Amino acid sequence: MDNLEKIVSDALEQFSGINDAAALEQAKAHYLGKSGALTDLLKGLGKLPAEQRREAGSHINAAKDRLEAALARRREALAQLQLDARLAEEALDVTLPGRGAGRGRLHPLTRTQDRIEAIFRSIGFDVADGPEIETDWNNFTALNNPENHPARSMQDTFYVENKDAAGRPLLLRTHTSPMQVRYARMHAPPLKVIAPGRTYRVDSDATHSPMFHQVEGLWIDEDVSFADLKGVYTDFLRRFFETDELEVRFRPSFFPFTEPSAEIDMAFGAGPNKGQWLEISGAGQVHPSVIRNFGLDPERYIGFAFGSGIERLAMLRYGIHDLRLFYDGDLRFLQQFA
Ligand code: PHE
Repeated sequence: MDNLEKIVSDALEQFSGINDAAALEQAKAHYLGKSGALTDLLKGLGKLPAEQRREAGSHINAAKDRLEAALARRREALAQLQLDARLAEEALDVTLPGRGAGRGRLHPLTRTQDRIEAIFRSIGFDVADGPEIETDWNNFTALNNPENHPARSMQDTFYVENKDAAGRPLLLRTHTSPMQVRYARMHAPPLKVIAPGRTYRVDSDATHSPMFHQVEGLWIDEDVSFADLKGVYTDFLRRFFETDELEVRFRPSFFPFTEPSAEIDMAFGAGPNKGQWLEISGAGQVHPSVIRNFGLDPERYIGFAFGSGIERLAMLRYGIHDLRLFYDGDLRFLQQFA
């Protein structure tokens, strides 16, 4: 039975040195398994004289209980160690600042449109919004551009198969000018409004996109002249570009809905590009037939309209040479506009 004490102390020492659950179960097998050291002793009981058998048996069983209890404690200790290690590894520092969603910013064209609206609001213009799918009548006919008139080919467009409730053909508006008609037919003069928004044409290169933005301007009263157009528009440009040193020219042109008509160009570029002009707007005195289509008397009401390209204004303001950059959605480009 000296042997028994030795087995127990060896086992207890071994168990307490094990740091791994699988190794612990292996050590258990070494003592308590089918051919383990204690099991062997139990099997040997049969060979003892009957009077010693009982006492030896109870010693072995007590030793077995001690080992089982030691195993249970060690298992628990190992589980705790494992848990502690995992908690340490997956530690969360709840005091760290959050990751955040990142702050968005306005698209340069939106910023440009906001800027245009602010300037015109400050001189008493209303700001109106209208549909991108228009009737053929508002987009062309009411603007003195009858069916089959060759001037229609100046603005090739995308036709929509559906018709409106009154059976009139629909299209993607080619300019914001139909807003002149819509606004005039819903408001009493004096009319003083700008209408920014998306417009569409079959057109695509570095300075044209099939979808682009315009801002329409309209001022109708009893005595609004072409000189007022020049004054208002030049003042707008000075404030938009924040400089009085602007070279602006009003070049004679043709639009069916204005008479006389002009195109407004701005000088841009430095160095070898100096002296180049970029067309930024069409404009003119609203044609008497159009005033009539507004539902007004052209003998009494007169005034001007203009339609400017928002991309063009943004390109000049920010020094951008290809308007397609506005639509690529490339953050490296867009993030430059804080
Ligand atoms: N609608 C014209 C265009 O898109 C511009 C314009 C607007 C011209 C108003 C005159 C008056 O080209």
